[in-house]
Amino acid sequence: MPQMKVPGSVDVLLKEEREFFPSPTFVAQANVQDKAIYEKAAENREAFWAGCAKAIEWYCPWHQVMNWTPPHCKWFVGGKLNVSYNCLDRHIKTAARNKAALIWEGERGEERTLTYWDLYLEVNRFANVLKNLGITKGDRVAIYLPMIPEAIIALQACARIGAIHTVIFGGFSADSLRDRILDADAKLLITADGGYRRGNVITLKQTADKALTECPNVKDVIVVRRTGLDVDVVEGRDHWYHNLVHHAAAYCEPEQMDAEDTLFILYTSGTTGKPKGIMHTTGGYLVGVATTYRWVFDIKDHDVYWCTADIGWITGHSYVTYGPLANGATQVIFEGTPDWPDKDRFWRIIEKYGVTILYTTPTAIRTFMKWGTQWPDACDLTTLRLLGTVGEPINPEAWIWYQKHIGRGHCPVVDTWWQTETGGIVIAPLPGVMPTKPGSATKALPGMAADILTDKGEHVEVGGGYLTLTSPIPSMMQGIWGDPQRYVDTYWSRWGNRLYFTGDGARRDEEGYLWMLGRVDDVINVSGHRIGSMEVESALVSHSAVAEAAVVGIEDEIKGQAIVGFVILKEGHHSNDAMAETLRQHVVKVIGAIARPQKILFARDLPKTRSGKIMRRLLRDVAEGRVLGDITTLADAGVVEELKKKYDEEYA
Ligand code: WT7
Repeated sequence: MPQMKVPGSVDVLLKEEREFFPSPTFVAQANVQDKAIYEKAAENREAFWAGCAKAIEWYCPWHQVMNWTPPHCKWFVGGKLNVSYNCLDRHIKTAARNKAALIWEGERGEERTLTYWDLYLEVNRFANVLKNLGITKGDRVAIYLPMIPEAIIALQACARIGAIHTVIFGGFSADSLRDRILDADAKLLITADGGYRRGNVITLKQTADKALTECPNVKDVIVVRRTGLDVDVVEGRDHWYHNLVHHAAAYCEPEQMDAEDTLFILYTSGTTGKPKGIMHTTGGYLVGVATTYRWVFDIKDHDVYWCTADIGWITGHSYVTYGPLANGATQVIFEGTPDWPDKDRFWRIIEKYGVTILYTTPTAIRTFMKWGTQWPDACDLTTLRLLGTVGEPINPEAWIWYQKHIGRGHCPVVDTWWQTETGGIVIAPLPGVMPTKPGSATKALPGMAADILTDKGEHVEVGGGYLTLTSPIPSMMQGIWGDPQRYVDTYWSRWGNRLYFTGDGARRDEEGYLWMLGRVDDVINVSGHRIGSMEVESALVSHSAVAEAAVVGIEDEIKGQAIVGFVILKEGHHSNDAMAETLRQHVVKVIGAIARPQKILFARDLPKTRSGKIMRRLLRDVAEGRVLGDITTLADAGVVEELKKKYDEEYA
């Protein structure tokens, strides 16, 4: 098993800080109050999920709840529904019609509120716009937008007409955008004239134009006016969003989709250089995210929920665009960053809108800890009643700080473990039922099951090993776009085709609580964002000065992990700071700023096995200043020893 470290330690906690029980007042109002739900679900998973599926509206009921032909599972077979109908049309028939669906705050303090009716109308019009441009069921639509209401409108409009959306995070480069558009074979792109980030304008349209020079199948580009920045307009291809919407009809009949029709594709990094297009279904996905949202966030009609994730990641899909709207919730969406114009931005937003539920990342929490409590202390956070975290392991110290200083000691904290692939939350406490332990995501939710296995697939009752999911989950990925074999190889071949391999390590304690230990594959998790070592390596070797490169993730106090690149230069190039900076910039250009290596170390050679495989494990030892692990399988042990000496000299 690859080396992994427990992030932080429970030993630093006081005895009374090691376990928290739901307070009687919280329990009394909780959506789930009876822990019998776990047993009830386990007794008959199919009946249980069928019950959950009744909370959404179907045009036509399913004839089979689940069809499990490992490693493929179909859910609600034969059922017909529309996701946008469930997120919007249902609510405009009730009092929710006049309720705020989205409260948007722009980076520059602008505010826009859309009620369910407003959002319904916008989505209908925009769905007609897409149809008028020839988009039909099954077509792929690429979306490259900042965090503005139009992003959610665009996703919902695609869902309404049965087009498959694929969102590309606004921080990705032109090359990354191009690769994803080509892989998904998208016909249309939705972007903006720009977005704001820390007072600067991000030139999304310009980047998109560059990407599109190599995407001949994109026939139309819809541009949202956000910044007013001058952009090139390609005649016949580019259209302004506001012009099109203005002329579109106010109602668009929702497409009746099959439960197993693909709702979206979202690219995520894996262990090869090529990102995977994770596909999600319509029926199972919606049932999964709508249900888990209600359970874990305990959502009520009067809540103001705020998830800080961007639309470019799975959290922005499941717990911004779909889960909350399917439940008729009111939510805040925010375009900016926590420190612009000042370090109290999040707390100002909570105070201003009376946010009751906050969902953010461990990286953000650790950053707030570093900035000090004077920032949250200066704001009224008394409306908060529940706190959530996601994206990476949270150390107990950060969990406690979050609970004490943001939750004022009385908000339950839900640490939610899941992945792009699982579509929805899998391991998390039900806040009214499950006692929590700082640093643990607790246990699998009702109707789901996780296990810890050894390399050989043996069950580990107490202790560490590989985290696996052992029963089908409705929101689970449908497959990998265009690469069915990779789906089988990556997730379902380690211990046979019935056990899903998560790529994570975890430990189970005596009480069955799960403690996440991070990735065990060559995926790096920087601030909750997944980056493949091989992606960064291929970006590095695409530079003319680089002969060979190896990339590893090392522990980082704030971001969880940081990227370190070991580089061998070609003859005639000099290893100095300027070259390191050039290479860092090159990675930003090829992939995007999220993949920028923190350190570049030049090497004469890289540690390899006799069969030529780079041993990243040893590079991690070097970069984290550890004693070298087993080096007996190396072709040349001198290489890594020299590297270690050099690294220790440079960074000690
Ligand atoms: C990977 C999935 C799920 C939405 C955001 C990331 C890590 C996620 C936790 C958590 C420990 C976590 C895992 C997982 N991860 N949540 N609560 N505790 N680790 O989605 O980009 O698909 O990344 O993030 O390593 O495999 P993603």
